[in-house]
Amino acid sequence: MDMSVLWKLSYGMYAVGTLDEERPTGCIVNTVVQITSENPIIAVSMNKDNFTYNAIKECGKFSVSILSEKTSQNTIAKLGFCSGCEVDKFDGLEYMYLDGMPIVKENACGYIGAEVISMTETETHFIILGRVTNTMKGVNVDPMTYKYYHEVIKGKAPKNAPTYQAEAEETIKDKYVCDVCGYVYEGDIHDAPADFVCPVCKQSKSHFKEQ
Ligand SMILES: Cc1cc2nc3c(=O)[nH]c(=O)nc-3n(C[C@H](O)[C@H](O)[C@H](O)COP(=O)(O)O)c2cc1C
Repeated sequence: MDMSVLWKLSYGMYAVGTLDEERPTGCIVNTVVQITSENPIIAVSMNKDNFTYNAIKECGKFSVSILSEKTSQNTIAKLGFCSGCEVDKFDGLEYMYLDGMPIVKENACGYIGAEVISMTETETHFIILGRVTNTMKGVNVDPMTYKYYHEVIKGKAPKNAPTYQAEAEETIKDKYVCDVCGYVYEGDIHDAPADFVCPVCKQSKSHFKEQ
């Protein structure tokens, strides 16, 4: 089977928000799709290891912030590379609430509120089906696609993303990835100045791992 065919699938970039009791939490996903049009239903693929999965299971509700091309990489790093079981992920981010669920205020181009209908288990991920209960417009900027995130922002996805395996198959030469935020440094990191820090999360070059 030629797995590279799967790389041709298109995705967007989203922040899923929910509550851990009263604490806002959530994570980045590239897998939100609208499944039905009347009384719309959306689907999200959520890794079983994600803290967000357990929080949504308990809470029964979640939000989706549709990220735009102006969403900062800091927001993506904070929600997509740390776990809500260790940090308060919305701390330091501009956020508000839609029907009680946290949403990213800064540069999201739309918002969806949803109630969980079902969770279908696969080996690694749960497919969460949610009934859309509310929507709200955001900034008038194009939504960020997964392709834009990779090619323009030069971001990466961690292993919990359903598309990770496909990325790992890619042949990448002289690329080093920050293990904190996923920023990609093109070239040999050893040639960078000793005081080089990640332009996104300000970590030292010891955090950069060769691809
Ligand atoms: C670009 C990108 C895409 C991602 N897509 C998904 C996804 O579709 N599903 C998923 O479960 N995790 C995805 N992730 C990974 C989670 O955001 C990440 O594992 C996060 O740290 C989980 O946080 P939590 O433990 O607080 O839930 C993605 C991350 C990034 C950066």
